[in-house]
Amino acid sequence: MIRAALLLLALLAAGGAAALDFSGDGGGEEGARTAAVEPDPSWHFPSRNIRDAYIALQTWKRYAIFSDPHDLTADWAGPAVCNYTGVYCAPLPTSPAVLAVAGLDLNHGDIAGYLPPELGLLADLALLHLNSNRLCGVLPRTLRRLRLLHELDLSNNRLVGKFPDVVLDLPSLRFLDLRFNEFEGAVPSALFDRPLDAIFLNHNRFRFRIPDNVGNSPASALVLAHNDFAGCLPASVANMSGTLNELLLINTGLSSCLPPEIGRLRELTVLDVSFNRIAGPLPREVAGLRKLEQLDVAHNLLSGPIPQAVCALPRLKNFTFAYNFFTAEPPACARVVPRNSDRSNCLPKRPAQRAPQQCSAFYTRPPANCAAFQCKPFVPSSPPPPSPPPPSPPPPSPPPPSPSPPPPSPPPPSPPPPSPPPHSPPPPKPVHHPPPPPKPVHHPPPPSRPASASIVPTPATLCLSTTTTLLPRPIATSLTCFIWITTTATI
Ligand SMILES: *[C@@H]1O[C@H](CO)[C@@H](O)[C@H](O)[C@H]1NC(C)=O
Ligand SMILES: *[C@@H]1O[C@H](CO)[C@@H](O)[C@H](O)[C@H]1NC(C)=O
Ligand SMILES: *[C@@H]1O[C@H](CO)[C@@H](O)[C@H](O)[C@H]1NC(C)=O
Repeated sequence: MIRAALLLLALLAAGGAAALDFSGDGGGEEGARTAAVEPDPSWHFPSRNIRDAYIALQTWKRYAIFSDPHDLTADWAGPAVCNYTGVYCAPLPTSPAVLAVAGLDLNHGDIAGYLPPELGLLADLALLHLNSNRLCGVLPRTLRRLRLLHELDLSNNRLVGKFPDVVLDLPSLRFLDLRFNEFEGAVPSALFDRPLDAIFLNHNRFRFRIPDNVGNSPASALVLAHNDFAGCLPASVANMSGTLNELLLINTGLSSCLPPEIGRLRELTVLDVSFNRIAGPLPREVAGLRKLEQLDVAHNLLSGPIPQAVCALPRLKNFTFAYNFFTAEPPACARVVPRNSDRSNCLPKRPAQRAPQQCSAFYTRPPANCAAFQCKPFVPSSPPPPSPPPPSPPPPSPPPPSPSPPPPSPPPPSPPPPSPPPHSPPPPKPVHHPPPPPKPVHHPPPPSRPASASIVPTPATLCLSTTTTLLPRPIATSLTCFIWITTTATI
């Protein structure tokens, strides 16, 4: 322990001495050592890429991993990098003869340490799954060299500092999971212009206003809960109508009205805006959310009647609106409102409502003036140019010339039962809903993006089957996903 601490101090003290030249990446302030690990010159590596991976992993293990209680890196020795626990190799999509490290999966490893700049040498990674470890510090900027990175899961660690802008430079990134860390400050609006399929930022210390370009994001899951945003829920979210499946904005300090345009989100299945200061009525346009299954608006300042059409939504299973100031609950709601989920409103003839004085005091004040929040109005996207008919689905291509899928090798330790990470302060309320029944989060989007450009021709759909929870993903999902990616990577 003490040795590790001293080493860390020494590393910090040496800060700034850029150790490695990442040819143009500038090394940067992350570089703190004088040398990365050098492989034994007599060793033979199957490719230059594997040799680089050796340097990255060994440097990480030797200098930047301080505790590995499950000994996941114990077998990280010697030149057989593809045999290391958590490391998955596959032929490069662009040069199938070249073997490279395509995946690194140490989810639930409980590893303590930090991410050294040498990880930028893992330039062929498609998947980097490091959730539920004890990684601290910041993301090295050298990660921008990971041009093929498709999934980045750093959730449930101790990463700090500003939003890691390096993720904005990753052209292949589709799945970004930074949940349960200690990132702080603003989230760059450019994030929502990236072609990300899933954005998980919940349980950090981000503090910003949701930018008006949020609607540019093609994400199917947008989870910003438990941060500090305040201000408006931009009407532009309506621009996500073709893709957005889950929108979780729990406990983010939102204080505007709900924009009626939210009703355009025709693919939305989960909407949770609970624990905010959202004012005004529940717009009847919410009844436009034809696929909605879960709706939670509890703990806000909503007022007036519940629109009957909302309770009549065909797929709605759970509508929770306790702790508001609603005045009427249509009979249709009985089917979808769990017991007590309407408590502490101003509903006549319902149990456990607010005191009449509280309701009358609320309603003697002038009603919420939604215009006063000055949220930007919605400007619908201009109709898309007449598009060519969608290409017929590509012929099912034969499996790649047997890049044997990674052996279902000793998976990292079985996932512990989901529990809130020990280091995060207890959230104000149950951290998450029971996840809705597992299902693919969304359908493949229309083939708007050139499918051939990236290592993985389709978005991370199959990887997302359990993402509705606010907790880090279980390992099983990641492995399934990984196998899928490696077997499609060479198409
Ligand atoms: C990797 O593991 C396989 C299976 O255990 C073994 O056959 C192979 O020799 C190992 N490769 C190296 C280079 O050690
Ligand atoms: C919706 O997207 C279009 C472009 O795609 C943009 O011009 C418009 O401003 C967006 N609407 C909002 C409210 O942001
Ligand atoms: C309904 O959803 C709320 C959270 O939104 C959850 O706490 C509750 O357990 C759910 N109830 C049922 C019956 O699914």
